[in-house]
Amino acid sequence: MEAELQSLKSEALAGLEQIDQIAGLEEFRVKYLGRKGEFAGLMKQLGQVDPAERPRLGQLANSVKQDIESAYEQRQAALEAGQGPVAPLCDLSLPGRVVPVGRLHPVTQIMNEVCGIFEGLGFAVAEGPDVETDFYNFEALNIPPHHPARDMHDTFYVSESVLLRTHTSPMQIRTMENQTPPLRMIAPGKVYRCDSDVTHTPMFHQVEGFLVDRKVSFADLKGVLSVFISRMFSADTPIRFRPSFFPFTEPSAEVDIGCVICHGSGCRVCKQTGWLEILGAGMIDPEVFKKVGYDPEVYTGFAFGLGIERIAMLKYGINDIRLYYENDLRFLSQF
Ligand code: FA5
Repeated sequence: MEAELQSLKSEALAGLEQIDQIAGLEEFRVKYLGRKGEFAGLMKQLGQVDPAERPRLGQLANSVKQDIESAYEQRQAALEAGQGPVAPLCDLSLPGRVVPVGRLHPVTQIMNEVCGIFEGLGFAVAEGPDVETDFYNFEALNIPPHHPARDMHDTFYVSESVLLRTHTSPMQIRTMENQTPPLRMIAPGKVYRCDSDVTHTPMFHQVEGFLVDRKVSFADLKGVLSVFISRMFSADTPIRFRPSFFPFTEPSAEVDIGCVICHGSGCRVCKQTGWLEILGAGMIDPEVFKKVGYDPEVYTGFAFGLGIERIAMLKYGINDIRLYYENDLRFLSQF
């Protein structure tokens, strides 16, 4: 019987090694440790052995049973923990998985670059709400109700007096209301207009800039914008200031740079003119100063508002602004 107990133990332990699924354990348990299993069968023979041998064989049988049970429990724990040799844990010969790397949206990259240039020139950054009141978006900027200049902006209204801001110029008012000159600020953010074609999107980004102090002149405005354009593009980028009109600046100008897509020969993006408008600017109108309590006899200032998507188009040679917002990864992952 001793030999049979030893061989049962070796057979059981070897069998346990072969089990690689939790489901196989139960079959093993019934076969070796169950009430009608092989161990129970051997134990029935214990009554027939020489009584003198019985205690020793009884002890041996107990230790065999304990060994099988403890090996069974270990196997069960290993399989439950997923450590059993179910399948090789990894195949070192497989090629590695490429983890896609996220990056900033090209418009965000340009926005950061633009803000960085003005911060380098000493401008502080302020942010304001996308949902604005008619007062800040129009009235305080010298655009009273029914003024024809409201037609320049195709406005999304939330209610009669609340709207999605059509430009970042309300930040001039919000800032000047709370601060006294001298001040040098930029206000980046999203703006909204009911507008869509190759150079217009319904949501786009502007950066407003303004500087107020004593004796600020149009020459200062030209100086700051020229430095900005030469840093953003290159020192030899063609620039032109075109007379224009904004109710909140007098005199006003629009600034164009040479079209970098056709290099001035005329294309769909620059509408065959060789130039692309990137910003509006001018000297802050005395009426605006009066609205925020500044004395226009003491202070002068300039302001400008530039379109980030337009700059991004020129910088990257993109001929349709809408590509920035189609979320096509084939396009976006190039930047
Ligand atoms: C304004 O929005 C004025 N607030 C700018 C300003 C600020 C003038 C301070 C004077 C003083 P304008 O509507 O021209 O101006 O827009 C400014 C720039 O935003 C444009 O030069 C253009 O680059 C960009 N832009 C305008 N509409 C769109 C649009 N729908 N999609 C993308 N970019 C646009």
